[in-house]
This record gives sequence, C-alpha cells and structure tokens, in this order.
Amino acid sequence: MTVWGHRISAQFRLGLLTLAPMLIVVALLVFFPPDGNERSEWAQFVGRFHPLAVHFPIALVLLVPILELAGLSNRFSYLRLSVGFVLGLATVGAIGAAMLGWCLARSGGYSGHLLAQHMWGGISLAAACWLCWMLRARLNEQGFGLIYAAVLAASVGLVAWTGYRGGQLSLGENHLTEHMPDGLRQVLGLANASSEPLSDVERNSFYWVEVQPIFAARCVTCHGPGKRKGNLRLDTYKSLMRGGKDGPVVKAGNVQGSDLFRRITLPQGHDDFMPKDGKRPLSPDQMKLIELWIAAGASDTQPADAIKETPSGSVPLTVPAEVTFEEIDTAAVTRLRETLSPAVQQLQKRFPNILDYESRGSADLYLNASILGTKFADSDLAVFAPLAKQITVADFSRTAITDRSVTVITAMKQLRVLRLMHTGITDTTVQALGPLDHLESLSVFGTQVTPAVLPTVARLPKLAHFYAGQTAIPNGMTIPKALTGKIVF
Ligand code: HEC
Repeated sequence: MTVWGHRISAQFRLGLLTLAPMLIVVALLVFFPPDGNERSEWAQFVGRFHPLAVHFPIALVLLVPILELAGLSNRFSYLRLSVGFVLGLATVGAIGAAMLGWCLARSGGYSGHLLAQHMWGGISLAAACWLCWMLRARLNEQGFGLIYAAVLAASVGLVAWTGYRGGQLSLGENHLTEHMPDGLRQVLGLANASSEPLSDVERNSFYWVEVQPIFAARCVTCHGPGKRKGNLRLDTYKSLMRGGKDGPVVKAGNVQGSDLFRRITLPQGHDDFMPKDGKRPLSPDQMKLIELWIAAGASDTQPADAIKETPSGSVPLTVPAEVTFEEIDTAAVTRLRETLSPAVQQLQKRFPNILDYESRGSADLYLNASILGTKFADSDLAVFAPLAKQITVADFSRTAITDRSVTVITAMKQLRVLRLMHTGITDTTVQALGPLDHLESLSVFGTQVTPAVLPTVARLPKLAHFYAGQTAIPNGMTIPKALTGKIVF
C-alpha cells in the first residue's frame, strides 16, 4: 500500500510539474497568436525543428493503445506496466512540439484558420495525453477505465486531425486528394481533378491570363494557403480582393491607391518592397500588366484581349499623383466621412467586402458588387442610393441588375469607372449616362447594348475606354470620331 501510495503521489507531482509549461504554451497562443508577421531569427531557427520533433509524441501516443490491447493477453501483460511511462513521455513531447510550433508560426509569418486549428489541435493533444496519464494511474477505481478509454481514443483522433491540418499547411489544402486516382475520386464522390472550377469567362479573363501567373510565380510562396504573410493570399481572386492585415491591397480603378502596386514599384531597398527578402523585382512589363489591370477595374471577368488592345501610350485611367497631399483638405474629408459613416457601416455590415473608401485620405467610395454575382439585384442596389454621390468606382459585372437601376446609377455623379459586363442592362441605361461627366471607363461587355448608344457614349467628356465586346455593336462598324482609339471589342 505504502509503495502504491508513494507511486501515485510521485506521478501526481510530476503531472503538476508538466502542467506549468502546458499553461505557458496556452497563454502564448492566446496572448501572442501568430499574425502573419515575421520576427526574430533565432526563434525561426528553433521553430524549424517543429516538423522533426512532432513525430516523437505522435509515435508515443499511437503506441499506447497497442500496448494496452496487447497487454490484455496474459502473455504480454508486462507491456501494460510501461504505459504510464510512455504517456508521460508523450505528454512532455507534445508540449515541447507545441512550443516549437508556436515559435515557428509566430516568427515565420504564418496565420489563418488552418494554422489556428493545427495549433489548438496540438495543444489539445498535449492536454489529452496528460489526462490519460493521470487517469491511467487510477484505473482500479470505478468508472475510470471507461473515461480513460474515451480520452485515449480522443487522443488518437487528435493526432490524425492535427497531422492532417499540418499537412495542409505545408503541402496545400487538398494535399490528400490532389493526386487521387479518378476512380477512387468517383467512389468518394469528389469532383474530378481535371474539372476546372473556373468558367470560360474567368479562364479567358485578363486577370487569369496575365495577372494571376505573375502572382503564382513570384508571390504565392509567401502569400498562399500555407504561408500567408501579412495575412494576405494571392492564390485566388477572392483572397486577393479581400486583402491583407491592413485591408484591401487592390482598389479597382485606383492604381495609386492600391497598396499592392505601391509595394511592387518601390525602390528595392525599401522596407515595404515586394517581393520581400531580396528577391528580384517584377519586370517593368509585369508591373505594367498589373497597373493596366487595376486601372481597368481589377476584375476577374474582363476578357484578356479587352485590355491587351489598349492603345499603346494611352493615359492610365487614374492619372498618377494628380492629387497631392497638400491639396486634400483633410479636415473636410474627415467631416464628410463622419457624416457618411453610419450609412457606410450599415451597408458594409449588410454586404460584407463590397463597399469601402478608395483610400485612407478620401471620402470617395468604391462599390464592387461583382463578387456577389446574381445574388445582387436592383433592390439591393437601391439601398446604396443615399451614398450614390460618393461612389467613384462601381463594378456590377455579372450581377442581376437591370435597367430598373438606372436612376441609382445616374445619381453616381462622380463615377469614374462603371462596369456593367454580363448584366441585363440595355440601351436604356447607357443612354441615360450622359450626365456622368467624370466617367473614364465604361464596360458593357456581354450585354444587349446596340449601336444606338454610341452618340451618348461619344459625348462623355472624360471617357478613355469603352468595352463593347460581345454586344450588338458589331466590331468594325463605323464609329463616331470621338470614340476612335477608345472603343475595345
Ligand atoms: C519572401 C516572402 C515574400 C514574397 C515572395 C512576397 N511577399 Fe508580400 N509580404 C511578405 C511579408 C513578410 C509581408 C508582411 C510584412 C509587410 O507588411 O511588409 C508581406 C506583405 C505584403 C503586402 C501587404 C499586406 C497587408 O495588408 O499589409 C502586400 C500587398 C504584398 N505583400 C504583396 C506581395 C506581392 C504582390 C508579391 C509578389 C510580387 C509578394 N508580396 C511577394 C513576404 C513576401
């Protein structure tokens, strides 16, 4: 008895001792979560040992049910004597691996939901091991056997789940299914590897053909599903437009207000320069493509040839640095933003991610309803009417809006970029656009619009680009002189 009593209390003391580092790791995760920023070199150095160290507790946890099951037979019953020891080692190993993992994530620029799940999976596993270890010592008390078995099963489950999330972080979100044979895919009801989720319009878009390959080659190593430095992913259009830790990085139609463009065009030694870490800058051609794409409205549906045929030497839509900071009356902007903010915030809540200010120093708004697709209809646009005067860029591509929205659109007196691609609008809307004398870029690509709109369009004083492909306006027809060099099919 005394021997037993001594054993239990010694183990209990050891258990209490290991609780301390476990709570420290939990506190680190809660108070200093990885946020995508890179930090000290030495922590990164240490953190890189996480993948190596992590297999040690994994093996030990998986060993426990094997020892327990084998130990059920009389021949191997001695195996069960070592289980408590193995569990203790597994607990210590799991805590150590979690600590290294935190170092890696916190200093190496990781963040995002995959990482959060992986981290919490790891620390939960350490806690589950600890609990098994403590319960194992009291197996002879009533009811403990069942709880022990349940927690042990949960630990094995956590190993698998946490390992899967870790695999997603380093090998990509679909690393298990990516190379799965098509036959097995069908059995499991997964989509075929070869079936592209992109529509034809997207696949032929300027973004997909010209812009995305640049990001894929030069940026996604740091801004992808695993590493999302600055909390920014550049591997999909949606994530690109969502932006990073400081908000959107691309502002449709506003090259100079787009943080992404600013960063790729900075001098190479600058702190904010991208790609980071002494990587070679993008070529002037690549910068130009990104500039043209942003200037034309940063869409993922505008066809590749629509922008390629931009007359060479044409003025960029947003004249760079036309507005200097001295000229902005910051007090007036602040006042205006104060009056707007209740309405803006309300709409941002109702339609997340589609409405924002063009830049920090401006009260101009840009509205990108295209991400909502056909879920966005005339009745939704009507709600934006009170802000119409402040909207300078509006993208309704592939939304469900029709001519019924004409009054709201024509109330957007400051509009510089208007994209109506693949919508139900007709000549009625376009012919009403006459008063929009700030309009620089207009797209009616893929609509029913006819040559009857040309006189109205030709009179728009600032218009530089009119995208009229796949409409009833035939390519090659005689167009008003004012539109030469501006109309793009
Ligand atoms: C070697 C890694 C690395 C590469 C490659 C890289 N970046 Fe970054 N990027 C970072 C880090 C780290 C940050 C966060 C620190 C900062 O804000 O400067 C960041 C932040 C950013 C941000 C700001 C996000 C925000 O909201 O604050 C943008 C925009 C950006 N990168 C664009 C790019 C583009 C475009 C490329 C490709 C041309 C690129 N990056 C390539 C490491 C990289």
